[in-house]
Amino acid sequence: MESILEARDLVKRYPVGGSEVEVVRGVSLSVKRGEFVAIMGESGAGKSTVLHLLGGLDQPNAGEVIIDGVPFGSLDDEHASMTRRTKTGFVFQYFNLLPILSVAENVALPFLIAGVSVAEKRSRVEEVLEMVGLSEKVNHRPDQLSAGEQQRVAIARALAGEPAILLADEPTGNLDYATGAEILDILWDSSERLGQTIVLVTHDARAAAYADRVLIVRDGQIIDEVRLGRRANHDAGPLIARLAQLGL
Ligand SMILES: Nc1ncnc2c1ncn2[C@@H]1O[C@H](COP(=O)(O)OP(=O)(O)OP(=O)(O)O)[C@@H](O)[C@H]1O
Ligand SMILES: [Mg+2]
Repeated sequence: MESILEARDLVKRYPVGGSEVEVVRGVSLSVKRGEFVAIMGESGAGKSTVLHLLGGLDQPNAGEVIIDGVPFGSLDDEHASMTRRTKTGFVFQYFNLLPILSVAENVALPFLIAGVSVAEKRSRVEEVLEMVGLSEKVNHRPDQLSAGEQQRVAIARALAGEPAILLADEPTGNLDYATGAEILDILWDSSERLGQTIVLVTHDARAAAYADRVLIVRDGQIIDEVRLGRRANHDAGPLIARLAQLGL
């Protein structure tokens, strides 16, 4: 299988006080088309920073990210933002929906931003809302939805543009277990049925157990990889056992 996303020796430093702290310290990874990869690690390990670098939301101090064969660093601002828009979809812990827009409008927002007519994309918006089970709520506003429904809108929005890669940062972090499982089922379904490539950041082994492969990050480095393989049962047992060996 061909690699759709690659990171080579990523380094990210942040200025803190008068000096700099290195929070990503040489991360390399490769994700194949259609693969579902989870990134796990403790709070502060650098998971979100890595995900932001992978999606071009932030620039590394060294190393490079290659999406679909194209190094991000080789692109000017305009092409970088176009690549971000067309190749990646982002889902965050705090849903990031616009409160004054309806469900359908929130999902269509990326099209609006890209200057594509929403009318032209109506059927796509309906399709992704159907996929996440929200066809009945297209005219609701975010505050009229449950937390799980809001996250489903965010997933629909991320998938609407048919991104090559879906990047999700703790998408179940603000949800109870059952609601979180619904979100993971949607991600799993898009991976299994549509071949959607997914990178999921989580500190929850039960969430990571949906993935084919789990990368463990500690202190800004990938310290281990657990290959679970494609399984429909999402049994977290083997992963939890490995994490225990690593003292996590
Ligand atoms: N803008 C910033 N300036 C300075 N330090 C930062 C900045 N952003 C992140 N950091 C630091 O980088 C480290 C990694 O942060 P990151 O958000 O990637 O962790 P994380 O693994 O996603 O943690 P969590 O599970 O809590 O979300 C942390 O120590 C954090 O304090
Ligand atoms: Mg984080």
